[in-house]
Order: sequence, then C-alpha cells, then structure tokens
Amino acid sequence: MPQQILPMPEHIAIIMDGNGRWAKKRGLPRTMGHKKGAQVFGDITRYCQKIGVPYLTVYAFSTENWKRPQEEVDAIMDLMREYLKDARRYEQENVRTFFIGDKSPLADDIKDMIQRVEEGSSQNTGLTVNVALNYGGRNEIMTAVQRIAKEVEDNKIKANQVNEQLFETYLYTSGQPDPDLIIRPSGEHRISNFLLWQCAYSEFVYMDVLWPDFTPKHLDEAILAYRNRDRRFGGI
Ligand code: FPP
Repeated sequence: MPQQILPMPEHIAIIMDGNGRWAKKRGLPRTMGHKKGAQVFGDITRYCQKIGVPYLTVYAFSTENWKRPQEEVDAIMDLMREYLKDARRYEQENVRTFFIGDKSPLADDIKDMIQRVEEGSSQNTGLTVNVALNYGGRNEIMTAVQRIAKEVEDNKIKANQVNEQLFETYLYTSGQPDPDLIIRPSGEHRISNFLLWQCAYSEFVYMDVLWPDFTPKHLDEAILAYRNRDRRFGGI
C-alpha cells in the first residue's frame, strides 16, 4: 500500500467507449448512443472544470473509425459540428480547446470551426480540453518522425540533437503534461492506439460502466483509485 495518497491528477484522458452497446441494450440505433455520449462529455468537462482538473483529453474519433458505416461516421461528425457551435459557451467559461489528430481529411466546415474555436480560446487559462478527432497514436508518432527527418534533411537540426524533449515538441500535445490517469469505461482493457507516446507512465483505470452512463461519481471513483496507486516511474 502507498504511504501517502497522490495529489489530484493534472491530466486525465478518457476513452469514451460503450456508446454502441448502450444503444443496443435499449433497442436504439448506435447513433443515439453517441448522442448521449456527447452529452456526457459536456457534463464531464464541466465537472473537471469545477474540481480544478487542468487537462482533459477525450478520444472522440480514431484514425480507424472511418471503417464504420457511413451513417455512423456522419452522425459522429454532426455531433462534432453541434459541439463546435456550442464551443462559445466553453470559451466564455475560460476553457481552452484543442483538437488533436490529423485534420486534413475532415470536412471544410469542421476544419474552419476548429480553427475558430482553437483561436478563440487560445488565451483562456482554465481547463484545457483536447478532443482527439481522427487521432491515432502511431500516426502522431509517424508524423513527428517525418517532420523531424525533413528538418534534419534541410539542415535545420542535427541528428544528434533529436532527443525525447525535442521529439515531444512535434507531438499534438506539445507543451502539455503527459496524462497521469487514463480511464476506459465499458469493460474493455485496451489502449486502442490512444496517446501511445504520452501514456508511458500513466495509471490506467478500467471501469465496467458504459460511457453514456458515466457520471461525475464515476470520475470521482477513478480519481480515488488513481490517488491510491503507488507511482514509481521505474524507481523503487
Ligand atoms: C466508442 O464507442 C465511441 C466512439 C467511437 C465515438 C465517441 C463519440 C462521441 C462520444 C460523440 C462525439 C464527441 C464529441 C466530443 C462531441 P463504440 O461506438 O465503440 O461503442 P461500442 O464498443 O459499444 O460499440
């Protein structure tokens, strides 16, 4: 048992899983699960802000999720549009919003709204929310490698200057602390290509609740589980 309880996590990351199963259980289309999931995301954002969590990252759409039926992809993108339209509210509440992932294949209107929301909230000092959209950990690492290789080729940096500190500045989460706590609801025990570099020393909490049923109480439970862990970062 750890001697002392850990401080509150500085960065919480969540894999919002179980929307489809939640809908199926109720005889509803999967898209209804995503709709409820998006509402829960709003509630959890507000709760994080209330309890003073500085960074929250959520996995909304992975580089692999394009394989889903077109109708489901379209529904998730429409939820994203609604969220982006609503983002002014968060902006006024001092939330800083980033979208992490490869934005290039997104629809133009979504790209424009993302740019507006990121710029509009750039001076905010409260909760930072990263929405992972068309995000893949391997893709993020590969993009960083390609950019660094290009800079070496162009003689802007030397190969022997490439180290962990420099590498991190090429990631989407540049300048942010690594997640202390990664929560995956829905009973699955996988990382699914999420924050592969950043999760090196994260604590994982898996929960049986489906994301649309996730409440601030579940977040409290996960935080408490985290605070009772013994983090050694490779030491003893
Ligand atoms: C995983 O559950 C969930 C997703 C792939 C989509 C998550 C999207 C949202 C919560 C809505 C949009 C988000 C924002 C930020 C507005 P699943 O569909 O894999 O569930 P299953 O494993 O039960 O099938």
